[in-house]
Amino acid sequence: MKRFTVSALCCAGCLWHSGVAAVDFESQIAPILEDKCYRCHGDEDVKGGLRLDSPIGILTGGEVGEVLVPGDPNASSLYILTTYPKDDPDYMPQKGKGLSKREQDLLKAWIAEGASFGDDFVAPIQSPARKKFADADPDNARNYIILGDAVEIVARLRDAGLLVDTVNHDASLFEVSYTYAEREAGAFDFEALEPLEDSLRKIILARTEVTAADLIGLENFQSIEYLDMSRTSVGDDALDSISKLKNLKFLNLRDTEVSDRGIQRLSGLPSLEKVYLWGSQATAEGAKRLERRLENASVSIGTRISPPPRRTGP
Ligand code: HEC
Repeated sequence: MKRFTVSALCCAGCLWHSGVAAVDFESQIAPILEDKCYRCHGDEDVKGGLRLDSPIGILTGGEVGEVLVPGDPNASSLYILTTYPKDDPDYMPQKGKGLSKREQDLLKAWIAEGASFGDDFVAPIQSPARKKFADADPDNARNYIILGDAVEIVARLRDAGLLVDTVNHDASLFEVSYTYAEREAGAFDFEALEPLEDSLRKIILARTEVTAADLIGLENFQSIEYLDMSRTSVGDDALDSISKLKNLKFLNLRDTEVSDRGIQRLSGLPSLEKVYLWGSQATAEGAKRLERRLENASVSIGTRISPPPRRTGP
């Protein structure tokens, strides 16, 4: 088994390197928060102990801790809660008009790029998000030290438009996202990931044009534990390949076309812990059936979603 050592590596860097225009906090993000969040998280009301009307407030977080993890939208409740189904009790904003898809995407991109508050803003030393903030700052990305063969491999993948990051700060495990890579259906070149071999843990294909035929190229990557297929148009035929990923723990099939019949194929995956099916063709009954067949998995179909993962420690 091949393992690489990477001391720090962040997806913000490659967005920056690939020349994607940065989202501007002042002109693009603050107006969204003002419009949709200030009434409960501003100077008149501070619900959940959280203020969203200043960079410091956002970085400080609320009663339950930090809400922003620069560079990692999926770990940032500030973003995730706005994408929940509207009837979910944790959905934000709790009242009033929710974020449009465009606004959600802007917020997500801003966080993915490192959540910059502009060149003049200096994050306070005490902020819990401070360290991540510094790590994710695109300017710092240039200083990241990548050791061993991984340097070239990661550089090549980034040149191909992929976001490459380490998993939970483990320097030897990688996650790769195709979400911003603009691959057309049929053009998902997963063989490019082969040099990562056993180091590959997470694959994010959310909102891409990936097809069931593309997924055949993933079958050999048995080290994958996390697969996000959400908001793609794949259906039951995609589950042939997915059900060959024997070490899969987390599978997001939200807003796909999979159905009750297809998902039963997942019952041969003993390591599965979580399957998300909101917005797919699957029914509560089908989800229950799969759950019964899998020993340790929760299969969730809709109404109630657990809160986003929280980071403990750096
Ligand atoms: C109508 C009031 C209201 C509005 C508007 C609102 N919130 Fe909240 N928010 C709450 C309340 C109440 C809480 C306290 C905890 C709870 O009930 O989840 C909260 C808590 C939060 C939390 C912390 C939850 C956690 O578990 O970390 C985040 C993040 C959050 N809101 C984000 C937002 C965002 C982003 C917006 C704007 C898009 C927004 N909220 C708009 C009422 C609101």
